[in-house]
Amino acid sequence: MCGIVGYVGNRPCRDLLIAGLEKLEYRGYDSAGISLLQDGRIDSVRAVGNLANLRAAVGLEGDGDGAVAVAAPPATIGLAHTRWATHGGVTEENAHPHGDCTDRIQIVLNGIVENHAELRRQLAAEGHGFTSETDAEIVAHLIERHEKGDLTDAVRSAFAELRGHYAFAAMHSDHPGTLVAARQECPLIVGLGDGETFIASAIPAFLAQTRRVLLVDNGEIVTVRASGADLTDGNGATVSRESEEVTWDEDAAEKAGFPTFMLKEIHEQPGAVAETITDRLAATDHVDLSGLELSDELAAGIRRIVIVACGTSYHAGLVGRYAIEQWGRVPVEIDIASEYRYRDPVVGPDDLVIGITQSGETADTLAAMRLARQRGATVMALTNIMGSQATRDADVILFTRAGLEIGVAATKTFTAQVAAMYLLGLWLAQVRGTLGREDIAALITELKGIPSKIATAIESVDERVRAIARSHHEGRFFLYLGRNIGLPVCLEGALKMKEISYIPSDAYAAGEMKHGPIALLDESTPVVCVATESPVLDKVLSNVAEARARGADVIAVATEGSERVAEVADQTLYVPPTDWILQPILAILPLQLLAYHVARLQGLNVDQPRNLAKTVTVE
Ligand code: AGP
Repeated sequence: MCGIVGYVGNRPCRDLLIAGLEKLEYRGYDSAGISLLQDGRIDSVRAVGNLANLRAAVGLEGDGDGAVAVAAPPATIGLAHTRWATHGGVTEENAHPHGDCTDRIQIVLNGIVENHAELRRQLAAEGHGFTSETDAEIVAHLIERHEKGDLTDAVRSAFAELRGHYAFAAMHSDHPGTLVAARQECPLIVGLGDGETFIASAIPAFLAQTRRVLLVDNGEIVTVRASGADLTDGNGATVSRESEEVTWDEDAAEKAGFPTFMLKEIHEQPGAVAETITDRLAATDHVDLSGLELSDELAAGIRRIVIVACGTSYHAGLVGRYAIEQWGRVPVEIDIASEYRYRDPVVGPDDLVIGITQSGETADTLAAMRLARQRGATVMALTNIMGSQATRDADVILFTRAGLEIGVAATKTFTAQVAAMYLLGLWLAQVRGTLGREDIAALITELKGIPSKIATAIESVDERVRAIARSHHEGRFFLYLGRNIGLPVCLEGALKMKEISYIPSDAYAAGEMKHGPIALLDESTPVVCVATESPVLDKVLSNVAEARARGADVIAVATEGSERVAEVADQTLYVPPTDWILQPILAILPLQLLAYHVARLQGLNVDQPRNLAKTVTVE
C-alpha cells in the first residue's frame, strides 16, 4: 500500500509534504520521492530506503546544499509518495513521482494498473520513452497523450483507459495552481484548509493541518486548487458532496477510525486480495504469473511440491495444497518449518519447495528454504515484503500485496497468501494442462469475485459474531472442527483465538473426534465448525450432530443457501457461495472476527498480544 500526499496553497510545501509522508509510514514502504513545482520548473528527488534518506536528499538533513527546490520563494505546490513496491524492484528509478517524456507532468500512484503492459506497448509504439519498470509510470504518459490545455480533461481521458485498483494524483508545470487526482478502489481523500488544499491516501497525512475532509468516491476525478476542490465523474459531470469534519485523534486516524489495527486489517482484506490477484488475472481465461520467473518447462517438470512455513502461513499452505493438487495435479507435501529443517528431508532437483512467510524473516522458514536449496530443489518464496531475507534465499518469488500488517495476529496476509496459492494452483493447471480453458476461465471469474464477497461477508456476519462472542468470551475452551479443506480454516481460527484471547483452543479433523477429543465436550463447550459446501459436507454434518448430542453449543460457518447446516447447529454464520476450493478465504472471516470480539470483550490488547512478536527471527 503506497502513500500519496499532494499540496497546493500559499505555504512552502516541501516540509509539509515530507511531514505528510512521515504520517503515512505506518502503511509501510521501501522508497519515497517528492516533486515540487516552482516558476514553471519541476524538481524531483527520489530515494530508496526510509524517509531519512529522502530528507537528506532534499536537504532537510545536513547542510542542505544540492537540495531540491530550495529556491526562494519556495514551491507552494507539490506531490510526494511512499512506495510499497509491486511492479519493478526497489530502486530510485522505480520510486515515484514519475514523469512523462518531458517531465512537465508528474504523477504519484497507489495501487495496481492491471492493463499496464498493454498500454506501455501502445505508448512505446507512439514514441514514448520509459525510465522505470513500474506500472504507474504509464499514467504520466497517458496524460501527456491526452493533454490539450486542460489538465482535468487529460486526467479524465487517461483514467478512462486504466484498469485495476489504484488512486493517483498528477501535477503539470503548465498548470502551477492545480493538482488533479482520480480514484478506482484505492483510498483517496481531500483535506480542505484555509487557502490551501491537501490530497492524500489517508487522513493522517494532513490531520495536523486540517480536519475538514472531502471524500472521493470510486470513478471520480478531483481537481484541487488552493481555494478548494471540484469533483467530477468519468463523463465530466459535476459531483456535489458536502465536506465533513474529522474528530479522530492521530492514533485513530492511523487506524482509519477503527479502534485497533487488527480490525482495520480485517476490513482491508478485500483490497489486500484484490491487489494480490488483480493484474495476474487481467485476462479472463489465463493466469499471468510472468513476474514469477518460473519457466513453463520447469513448472511442467515439477515432480513434487513441498511447502514449509510457520503459524498462520502454514495454515495458508494447507489450503494451498488443495488448490495445487486438485487443479494442478502435483503432489504436495507440507510441513512446519521448524520440524522440516531437522528431519533430514528427502528433497532434490525435481522438487519445488515453497517457503510461505509474510514477513520474509522467520528464521525456521528461512532455514528450511536454505536446506532445500542446498539439496538442489528450486525454492520459491511466497512473501509480503520486498527486499526481505526470504527474497534473497529463494530462486523465484511470488509476492502477496497485502501492505504492511501491524497487528501481530495475521489476518489480511493470510487471505492474501491463500489468494496467491489459488493463483499458483490455477497457473500450474494451465501450464500442465490439467484443467481445460473453460474450467480455468470459470475459476478466474469466481476468484475475481472474491474481494467483494469478502467485504459482504464481513459486513453481514459481524453483528451475529459479536452476539456469539458476548455469550462465550468467558469460555474456558474452544473446539474447532472441520474436514478436508475446512480443517486448515479451523486451525487458523483456533490459532487466532489462542494468540489474542489466550483461551485454550483446539482444532481437530472432525472425523477424528470420536477417537478422543469428543471426551472434552460438555454443555459449556463452544464447538466452532466449518461446514461450508465441500465434497465432505455430509460427513461434517454428522460430526456436528455428534458434538451437539453431547450438549456442546455448535457455532457453524456455512455457505449461504445451505439450510441443512442450520438444522444441526445452534448458531449458523453464512458466507457467500463460491467454488468449494475458494470457500476457505471466506469461511475464515467469521473466525477472525470471533477471536477479535472475544479478546476485545476481555479488554485485551489485540494488536500486541502477550509473549508474541510480529516477526519471529529467533530459532
Ligand atoms: C500469526 O497470527 C502469527 N503472527 C504467527 O503465527 C505467524 O504467522 C508466524 O510467526 C509466521 O510468520 P511469517 O508469515 O512472517 O513467517
